[in-house]
Amino acid sequence: MAEYTKRLLTGLQPSGKLHIGNYLGALKPFIEICAEYDSMLMIADYHALTSLKDPIELRRNIIDIVKDYVAAGVDSEKVTIFQQSAIAEHTELAWIFECLVSMPFLMQAHAYKDRSAKGGDINAGLFNYPMLMAADILLYDTAVVPVGQDQRQHIEYAREAASKFNIAYGDMFIEPQERILSDIGTIPGIDGKKMSKSYHNTIPLFGTDTEIREAVMRITTDSTPVGQALNPETDIIFLLHRYVTPDIDALEKRYKEGIIGYKESKELLIQNIIHMVNPLRERRETISDEMVIHILRTGTEKARVRARIKMQQVRTAIGVSLT
Ligand code: ADP
Ligand code: TRP
Repeated sequence: MAEYTKRLLTGLQPSGKLHIGNYLGALKPFIEICAEYDSMLMIADYHALTSLKDPIELRRNIIDIVKDYVAAGVDSEKVTIFQQSAIAEHTELAWIFECLVSMPFLMQAHAYKDRSAKGGDINAGLFNYPMLMAADILLYDTAVVPVGQDQRQHIEYAREAASKFNIAYGDMFIEPQERILSDIGTIPGIDGKKMSKSYHNTIPLFGTDTEIREAVMRITTDSTPVGQALNPETDIIFLLHRYVTPDIDALEKRYKEGIIGYKESKELLIQNIIHMVNPLRERRETISDEMVIHILRTGTEKARVRARIKMQQVRTAIGVSLT
C-alpha cells in the first residue's frame, strides 16, 4: 500500500493556550507529515474531562485549539478535524477494551502512576484513559500516530488492546505505530527548564507583541557586562535563537567576540519570534467561531461514517449484534 493511502490520526487535548514549544515541537512537524497520509485530527474533549470540569472553559478551549491548528497551517479541506465526544462509538469501543484488559495492566500507565504518586484526584476516567485513546486510534484502522515522547506508552496500550481483541474474537484491528514528533529536541522555557505550561515559563504562540516581549524580558541571565564574551552554550536567549534566528552562526560569532549584550540579544529574539508568529496570528484573526463549528461538523460527519462501519463489525464479532 502506498504511504499516502495509510491513515494517520492524532488527538489533542483542548487544554489551554499553546506556546512556541508546542508549535516547534508538535504543530509544525505534525503539519509537515500529515500531507503524506489520509490524516485525521481529533479534539480529545472527553479525555480533557478527566481534569477539566468548567464547561465554559472547555467549550472555549475546543474552539481555540481548532483555530490554533488551522492558523498554524492544518488544511481543514484535506485533514479530517473532528470532535471525539460527537462520535459515541469512541466511548463504546473503549468499554469493550476495558472488558479485555486487566486492572494491574492499566495500573502501569504513566498518567495514572504519576497522578497517584502525587496523591492527586484519580477519577475512573483517568484510570481508563488509555483504553479511550486505544479506541480513538483503532476505530479508524490507524497506521500511524504522531505524538510527543510522553505519549509513547499510550500507543503501546493501543497495540495491546488491538492484540487482545484479535486473539479473543479474530482479526479486527491493525496495530498502530507511533511516530514521535519533535526531532528538534526540547525547547527551553524562559527559566531554562523545558518550556511547559505546567512550569509557567512559556512564550505564548498567539500572544500579543507585549506578551511576547514580557516573556522574553524575563529570561534569566548572568551578570556578564556588555563588551565581554557570552557563552552561547549556556545562555537561554541563545538556545531560543537557535529555533527562530536565520543566521545563527553570525550571532554565535558576535556572542563569542563580546559584541552583543543580553539586552540586544533579547531585542533580536523578540523581533524574530514576532516575525515567525505574525503570519499565524494574522490568519487566526480571520477564523471565526462559526467557521470552527462548520469545520468540526464537516469533519465529524466524515469520521462518523467510518466509525459506524467499524463498530458494526465489532458488535458482530463480539456477539451483541443479533441481525
Ligand atoms: P505542556 O508541557 O506545555 O503541557 P503538552 O504536554 O501539552 O505541553 O505538549 C503538547 C505537545 O507539544 C507534545 O507533543 C510535546 O511533545 C510538545 N511540546 C511541549 N513542550 C515542548 C517543548 N518545550 N519542546 C518541544 N516540544 C514540546
Ligand atoms: N492523550 C493524548 C495527549 O494527551 C491525546 C489523545 C487522545 C491522543 N486520543 C488520542 C493522541 C489518540 C493520539 C491518538 O496528548
